[in-house]
Amino acid sequence: MSTGRFADQVIIVTGGGSGLGEDYCLAFAREGGHVICADIDRDAAIRVADSITAAGGIAMAVKCDVTKADEVDHMVQKTIRTYGRVDVLINNAGIIRRRSLVGTTEEDWDREIDTDLKGPFLCARAVAPSMMERRKGAIVNISSVAGIVGCISTAYAASKAGINGLTRQWALELAPHGIRVNSVAPGYTATPINEKLRQTPAATQIGESIPLGWGKPAHITAAVLFLAADEAAYITGQTLAVDGGLTTTVDLGPDYRTFDR
Ligand SMILES: NC(=O)c1ccc[n+]([C@@H]2O[C@H](COP(=O)([O-])OP(=O)(O)OC[C@H]3O[C@@H](n4cnc5c(N)ncnc54)[C@H](O)[C@@H]3O)[C@@H](O)[C@H]2O)c1
Repeated sequence: MSTGRFADQVIIVTGGGSGLGEDYCLAFAREGGHVICADIDRDAAIRVADSITAAGGIAMAVKCDVTKADEVDHMVQKTIRTYGRVDVLINNAGIIRRRSLVGTTEEDWDREIDTDLKGPFLCARAVAPSMMERRKGAIVNISSVAGIVGCISTAYAASKAGINGLTRQWALELAPHGIRVNSVAPGYTATPINEKLRQTPAATQIGESIPLGWGKPAHITAAVLFLAADEAAYITGQTLAVDGGLTTTVDLGPDYRTFDR
């Protein structure tokens, strides 16, 4: 019997092999959770699960492409066969293709929507029956500030705004079954997804335009674990922006960052 906020709870993290997902996996395991690290990149999932077990935690790696219903169903069934249930689903797997409206191909659109919107749908649909049976569960969808304000690209904006809508819809449908559903909308957070961007001068400008600057994975992880935990028992249907103030302010440049002049 482990101790911690998630002692003996079973937690699936999609896209758990890198960046934010990896940070969630490690944090849930530190707090006593049994973590299923599900990722399209088998080696990355194994690396994260192995690092958890090497530190004395409990984790299993499952190769899973969230765009494929059969792989998602297999991953959830394997989790239930191994651990008996799913307590928490973190719908985190995502990609970004930074394209203009006219530069977005049909293939760009399909790949992004399949991964960032259909993937969370397939995963939630697969875990919901077992959560409903036990009348207990929490789902945290990883959205983005791009679902609230325009800042990245057409298909990404559509998928992340869609996630915020699904969060409200599922919160309504699943509340009578004891399941809470919320989203976290990270702002600019240093992970492999924006590695190229962070090597350009734009990274400094972005940091200066956000009241609290660039985020760290730990900032996002704290919010995700809070919404997944019993502490958030009366919170459902919400999208929490963890963005250093990005979506609450308008940056008009350096001259406008000085007040009382
Ligand atoms: N880093 C940021 O600044 C930021 C900001 C807002 C939102 N987000 C969101 O956070 C989530 C994680 O992003 P990250 O920054 O950690 O990126 P990342 O690229 O470091 O990690 C994404 C992970 O998802 C996996 N993945 C991709 N496609 C998959 C698929 N079809 N099936 C299963 N796994 C798949 C990748 O293999 C990778 O391990 C994404 O949903 C992203 O949109 C990130």
